[in-house]
Amino acid sequence: MQQREPWTVIAAICAALIFLAAGSISEAGKIEALPGQPKVSFQHYAGYITIDEKQKRALFYYFAEAEIDPATKPLVLWLNGGPGCSSIGAGAFCEHGPFKPSGEILLKNDYSWNKEANMLYLESPAGVGFSYSANDSFYSYVTDEITAQDNLVFLERWFGEFPEYKGRAFFITGESYAGHYVPQLAQLIVQSKAKFNLKGIAIGNPLLEFNTDFNSRAEFYWSHGLISDDTYEIFHHINSLVSREVSKYVDTYDVTLDVCLPSIESQSRVLNQMEYTGTIDVCVEDETIKYLNRKDVIEALHAQLVGVDQWTVCSDVVRYEMKNLEIPTVPLLAKLVMSGIRVHVYSCKFLSGRSRFSDPTHWNKNTSERISKGIGTKHNCSLQNLVPGKTGCWVDTSIW
Ligand SMILES: *[C@@H]1O[C@H](CO)[C@@H](O)[C@H](O)[C@H]1NC(C)=O
Ligand SMILES: *[C@@H]1O[C@H](CO)[C@@H](O)[C@H](O)[C@H]1NC(C)=O
Ligand SMILES: *[C@@H]1O[C@H](CO)[C@@H](O)[C@H](O)[C@H]1NC(C)=O
Repeated sequence: MQQREPWTVIAAICAALIFLAAGSISEAGKIEALPGQPKVSFQHYAGYITIDEKQKRALFYYFAEAEIDPATKPLVLWLNGGPGCSSIGAGAFCEHGPFKPSGEILLKNDYSWNKEANMLYLESPAGVGFSYSANDSFYSYVTDEITAQDNLVFLERWFGEFPEYKGRAFFITGESYAGHYVPQLAQLIVQSKAKFNLKGIAIGNPLLEFNTDFNSRAEFYWSHGLISDDTYEIFHHINSLVSREVSKYVDTYDVTLDVCLPSIESQSRVLNQMEYTGTIDVCVEDETIKYLNRKDVIEALHAQLVGVDQWTVCSDVVRYEMKNLEIPTVPLLAKLVMSGIRVHVYSCKFLSGRSRFSDPTHWNKNTSERISKGIGTKHNCSLQNLVPGKTGCWVDTSIW
């Protein structure tokens, strides 16, 4: 083989040095352009972070930097619920990411959260979306604890690839079953003393307390004077009976969700589903399913399908421990507030009644006071409602 000219070696070294100097951010994950994407001013990245080298377990992320001045904007992790549904399919491409699929192309989303933050969407646990475990025994028993642990490892390693984000103001956000994922991950970060600059969490329509959240529709109707006291009693009773009876027969997943529904309809369908089966999901659009299954899209995202034939909104392979649904996470919220983490709970209007703090015994005055410092001013989850003796509160606002 021909000997290399010395200057080519020097040039290569220089190039490597320049690359190292410039490449404090992961170049590997950089997306050139997604198929059909309009021109944009921000950078975006996607790829895998290996969680377990031996078992070949890796989590997939999509990261959209803020449109303007990303260096001054916070980092926000978003998690969809399920358990087992994709934050990329739902959160990024259906709800508040920079683009929405429409036929062959992507349309710019004028309400994208990356106008205000650097948005990191994570498909978790392994088995969801493009995230995988090559050893598929992993899928047979996944718990809240495993999910939180893997998500923590993900973050540690992700910050390794994106070091300038490590000290950045960091928020963990999500919806529905992420009422478990988000506070549990936040708590693990606090406990493990990971050196992230975790400032707060925000959860929308979260599952916080199984019994309350699943029975809250009666309360909502009744408290708004839509139904009589008698009907309320019956409603409440029937709801309790239904969830008690049905939940025993819930298969780990009921993915009746890959249908095309406008988001409002699908979310109210979700609410109904929650009350009957304990399965939660998010807005699902056919367009997103089609888009994320395109070969050129999968390639542009640096993704792959491992052990599954197609990308699905909610996992068909993960067997989640359904008993975990009943773990109340309200006490965790209080703990987080006590450790100085800001907590924001919000609820979409038409779903009101889901996110009810019905058990204020977890909250004391100190907690409330600390919350009052933590929450945004736009939001009037009246603090009187969070102290013992009062019944609950709803929050009708969204995060930004
Ligand atoms: C796959 O995972 C299971 C359980 O996590 C473990 O017992 C088994 O040894 C693993 N298989 C291989 C080939 O590593
Ligand atoms: C409130 O909680 C903080 C944090 O745990 C603690 O330092 C402080 O002493 C508490 N204040 C009161 C009045 O209990
Ligand atoms: C918030 O709600 C409480 C209780 O309903 C009320 O007294 C207070 O004026 C409200 N604050 C704002 C800013 O709307």
